[in-house]
Amino acid sequence: MDVLIIERSGPLGGSVRVGGAKNAALPIMAACLLTDEQSIIERVPRVTDVGTMANILHGLGLEIAWEHDALVATPGPVQGWTAPYELVSMMRASICVLGPLLARHGRARVSMPGGCIIGPRPIDLHLKGLEAMGASIEIDHGDIVARADRLKGATIHLGGPSGSSVLATANVMMAATLADGTTIIEHAACEPEVVDLANCLIRMGAKISGHGTPVIHIEGVSKLGGARHRIITDRIEAGTLMIATAMLAGDVMLEGAMPEYLGAVIDKLIEARVTIEGSAQGIRVHSTGRVKAVDITTLPFPGFPTDLQAQMMAMMAVSDGVSIVTEKIYPERFMHVAELRRMGASITREGPSAIIKGVDQLGGAPVMATDLRASAALVLAGLVADKQTQLGGLEHLDRGYERIEEKLSQLGAKLRRERASLEDECRPMLQCN
Ligand code: EPU
Repeated sequence: MDVLIIERSGPLGGSVRVGGAKNAALPIMAACLLTDEQSIIERVPRVTDVGTMANILHGLGLEIAWEHDALVATPGPVQGWTAPYELVSMMRASICVLGPLLARHGRARVSMPGGCIIGPRPIDLHLKGLEAMGASIEIDHGDIVARADRLKGATIHLGGPSGSSVLATANVMMAATLADGTTIIEHAACEPEVVDLANCLIRMGAKISGHGTPVIHIEGVSKLGGARHRIITDRIEAGTLMIATAMLAGDVMLEGAMPEYLGAVIDKLIEARVTIEGSAQGIRVHSTGRVKAVDITTLPFPGFPTDLQAQMMAMMAVSDGVSIVTEKIYPERFMHVAELRRMGASITREGPSAIIKGVDQLGGAPVMATDLRASAALVLAGLVADKQTQLGGLEHLDRGYERIEEKLSQLGAKLRRERASLEDECRPMLQCN
């Protein structure tokens, strides 16, 4: 198992290219199940979640090959309709093969995703949407078993207790492309990743309008073809690098970052005294280092993204003043708090909020990543801490960040990946017992 050795760094400088969005790539890969033609998806990030989805698609009869940064999905002669527990349990986003399988083959067996470190993650909205289109769904020995001769268009309200759902919108939208008649999704997610999926489906021949707004119309067609599609850049990777620059000081150009995907983040960083310039080329971030404390509340797009909450908290930990971070999407997504505290952060949990008093200095320490975005927060904290930080649990970081340590190093940060010593490898086990 590897660890990241992180040293106090800064200021950052130079430019770096932002990669393709993992959360756009995953459902778009699942959309390749909707056609019997070859699809080519460009700018796919080489992260382990993409590898997991590729394995699931392979098991369902697609041949998957890489050509540079493009993933080529070619339907083989035998198509499957079962996504097994071994793969689904590795990644909750596997659920987005359910809609395409049902639409294309009239049946699907997908292992039911379980709990998750960032809190409860129900899938009731996915099932409600597919049932509204006429699917019969039962849970059989831990698997979702869905059937429908041909899905029928319906008007479906997809709002949940925390607002819209990104992957439920994606799942229902994909299923509706091959349904009989028109489907209207109300309270649809407006995230850029949903829009990117819709644009890819349109290239495949789907008739979709309203994507990017809370009401999406999908007129079913009898067949979809293959497409060549280029994934949008990753707003969460861009946001993580923006926060890194804000914390460490410096002047950084994030090539390909899309300002229109990051409005709420840009707004908060400006409030925290960071200078941001957005352009067609990307986003330039300029910071003198010590930021002002700002409050944030996570919300569905265009609100502040939950996937940047942990990184923002790391920044608030070394800000001037007191800030309140309120998590409205996943009220339990605070696993990073304990590790940040070990590094000297002053953070108190109050239900779905955390109150952070900025301290002068964090102290480097051995820390463990608990989930993808928490691990990014610990990398940022390590880069401003005195002494060395050793971050373990890199399998979480590698699920969604492509070469993040290389990109940060390119900007002047001091961090490197090393093989863990035996003692480090044993530490998580010792802690558990
Ligand atoms: N929800 C329900 N019922 C459902 C589905 C969701 O109540 O059937 C609730 C969830 O519990 C949550 C809220 O709705 O409170 C929003 O969850 P959503 O369904 O939008 O999340 P998701 O689609 O499963 C995607 C991203 C997550 C990101 C969320 C929110 C992918 C692969 N995952 O998950 O990304 O946090 O949207 O923006 O697109 C990450 O990349 O680190 C990550 C966790």
